[in-house]
Amino acid sequence: MNVDAKNKSDIPSIVQAAIAQHGTTPEALVPLLSEVNEKLGYLPTAALTEISRALRLPGSQLMAVASFYRMLSIKPRGRHVIQFCESAPCHVMGGRLVRRVLQEELGLEPGETSADGQWTLLAVSCPGICGVGPVLMIDENIYGNITPRRIREILREYEVGSKE
Ligand code: FES
Repeated sequence: MNVDAKNKSDIPSIVQAAIAQHGTTPEALVPLLSEVNEKLGYLPTAALTEISRALRLPGSQLMAVASFYRMLSIKPRGRHVIQFCESAPCHVMGGRLVRRVLQEELGLEPGETSADGQWTLLAVSCPGICGVGPVLMIDENIYGNITPRRIREILREYEVGSKE
């Protein structure tokens, strides 16, 4: 869920709920950011400001953490997030072709979000399922032994809305 689909006034209540759950110690920072990112789809500046205030941590530290973890984003992401594995074992099993087909089909470079807000494409390191490489993930779903034809079929499933 992207914050654009929700009322932005939800941000304080979502941040407060996450703080109530995880606390305000420095160790709570990553779980807190993860929770808010999951609820809002990314970490809007208003949310980072509120977390910074609650944990008494500088905004620069929050930005550093938010930039370090791929699961976190300070930019709005698409309705569906596609992650493809770019590590060597997948690469030699056809991962390079997977990357090219995804880029062609979506018109996106890794790290970009489509103008219609439907897709975000991310290149990720090995998620540990090399036995079924090449691998891609869309939202919570994992797809192995991917071929160009299979990619097009999978994307079509999401485009026609049968996958949420
Ligand atoms: S290298 Fe791709 S899943 Fe391990």
